[in-house]
Amino acid sequence: MVTRTVPESAVAVLREVAEVQVCDQDRPLTADELRAAVGGADGVVAMLHDRIDAEFVEAAGPQLEVVANVAVGFDNIDVPAVTGRGVTVTNTPGVLTDATADLAFGLLLSVTRRLGEAERLLRSRTPWNFHLGFMLGTGLQGKTLGIVGLGGIGQAVARRARAFGMHITYTGRRRAAQEVEAELEARYLPQDELLRTADVISLHCPLTESTRHLIDDAALDAMKSTAIVVNTSRGPIVDEKALAAALEGGRIGGAALDVFENEPDVDPGLLELDNVAIAPHLGSATTETRTAMAELAARNVAAVLTGQQPLTPVTT
Ligand code: GLV
Ligand code: GLV
Repeated sequence: MVTRTVPESAVAVLREVAEVQVCDQDRPLTADELRAAVGGADGVVAMLHDRIDAEFVEAAGPQLEVVANVAVGFDNIDVPAVTGRGVTVTNTPGVLTDATADLAFGLLLSVTRRLGEAERLLRSRTPWNFHLGFMLGTGLQGKTLGIVGLGGIGQAVARRARAFGMHITYTGRRRAAQEVEAELEARYLPQDELLRTADVISLHCPLTESTRHLIDDAALDAMKSTAIVVNTSRGPIVDEKALAAALEGGRIGGAALDVFENEPDVDPGLLELDNVAIAPHLGSATTETRTAMAELAARNVAAVLTGQQPLTPVTT
């Protein structure tokens, strides 16, 4: 059972091992619809908006063997509850790293060079002319990028930042490997020191109970008044109301956001602000990457249903 339309090449992988049912409605299934649709399934290809928990597994039935999330993040899945019932959980690491890092950098450039605002100006047919003080932004060269969570995506963002002449600091649950620190000339800092000293703070950690509202009022207050917050990870890592208030009050410099606390809703305050660049959860949204993600999820399902090891299992 596939909870939402996926590229045909992924369906083809599934068809080799199973009968395939694709829910092709144009919105996420509600929790009730999801439970109704999953009954009798041996494997499920799920999306990041599907809540996968004990009730989901009960609704599917005892034959359920595998749930493959088409996302690297799996905060929508109660992993202990699902794996505890003997069901394999998989995600899609690796294949979306560059696409997400590209988008983080695109949004960062958009906010520092005021690209959204500039485009809105032109499209509104407002007269303009070149002068030296016109629509000035800020440069990235020589500035410090503070990365929260130097995993695959964090490192890919750091590589891009290095090409733009930025310095890298990072924080997280653990130190990165020495080769990674050396390649990126990345300096490990305790979180509070990183927040105080970075010009740009980019979030690349998973959403867990310990990272929920990691960026709250106190964190925002610790930042420089010119700091820019980039979030391409998960919305609830940032207290969105607190962020909107900090931006409105000029307590930080700007924000670049691809994810929101209550998607698809966006805090209305954020939509009023010119120092915010926003996108509707597009981190992995390239044809190449979405195809690779769906195919990887399908291959995980096919592996488990044919008695092989999953390619990219999630463990707790
Ligand atoms: C997308 O948000 C993902 O986690 O892959
Ligand atoms: C700007 O367009 C320049 O030529 O410097």
